[in-house]
Amino acid sequence: TYVIAEPCVDVLDRACVEECPVDCIYEGGRMLYIHPDECVDCGACEPVCPVEAIFYEDDVPAEWADYTRANVDFFDDLGSPGGASKTGKVAKDDPMVAALPPMGE
Ligand code: F3S
Ligand code: F3S
Repeated sequence: TYVIAEPCVDVLDRACVEECPVDCIYEGGRMLYIHPDECVDCGACEPVCPVEAIFYEDDVPAEWADYTRANVDFFDDLGSPGGASKTGKVAKDDPMVAALPPMGE
């Protein structure tokens, strides 16, 4: 799977959403999260993010390693909705993300 990391927080550019062929990039309160089971590893999202927030799971920088977990845990109560557009914005974030000071520009 691919993982969205800290640079997305408070930026939420959403260019990645347009590229994903399986609509598996879900919007939370302060960032977006990739569904680890719905992502088919096509990689189309990674180069379009203007803040380089997206990484293949094996390439997540060590400082952001906990975002791999956060992209998984986000779906603990959502399960596998099978589509981000029909799900819409989910009004929550991983606790690690929710605790961050204001980020981005
Ligand atoms: Fe976030 Fe980049 Fe997508 S800022 S919403 S991961 S294009
Ligand atoms: Fe979609 Fe990116 Fe995975 S475009 S299928 S989330 S690699």
